[in-house]
Amino acid sequence: MELSEALARRRACRDFSDEPVPRELIEKLTYAARRAPTACNAPYRHVMVIDDPKVIRGVKLMSPSLLANPPVLLVIVTDLIEAVEKTGPLAERSSYVDSGAAGENILLAATELGLGSQFTMIPAMAGIREILGLPAHYRVDLIIPIGYPRNSAKTVKARKGANKVFHNQFGVFFGEA
Ligand SMILES: Cc1cc2nc3c(=O)[nH]c(=O)nc-3n(C[C@H](O)[C@H](O)[C@H](O)COP(=O)(O)O)c2cc1C
Repeated sequence: MELSEALARRRACRDFSDEPVPRELIEKLTYAARRAPTACNAPYRHVMVIDDPKVIRGVKLMSPSLLANPPVLLVIVTDLIEAVEKTGPLAERSSYVDSGAAGENILLAATELGLGSQFTMIPAMAGIREILGLPAHYRVDLIIPIGYPRNSAKTVKARKGANKVFHNQFGVFFGEA
């Protein structure tokens, strides 16, 4: 699949079949995450592969906005000590950008592989750390359900007014408004 097609087809998927996802496909997704940049090329972003149904149930208990019942979760976490040591005071913001970049790479790679995925975020940091066995200086940035979509996703247009593109100066549109 061409990148342009993956960009057009990617949609949030919240309805997964029970079909297991082969390990080699999960490895392609973790590779996609690794190919995303980090500020200063510093090694503070990590990915956890969660396929134990007990752990998935625990994550879902902590994360009410994770509506799906997927066979796999990919969780993107940041080592906050390493992030501050390597990138300084920008780390709080830059590390969120890094996690988003890795997450979007996963979403596009999943689309190419015929898998469904979406972003979710977690409000209860203490609880999720315990469930995943994470040290206190790790932040959970994204929880991405992965699986085969039960229904084929339709492409939709972005909402009107979203993603304005400006040219040289704020308020001057680059092409159509
Ligand atoms: C940072 C971020 C957090 C999100 N969190 C959730 C979430 O907790 N639960 C959920 O169902 N969808 C979540 N979404 C998915 C968005 O609702 C979805 O991407 C958006 O409605 C656009 O639809 P599309 O992805 O199909 O284009 C999140 C998306 C982003 C970018």
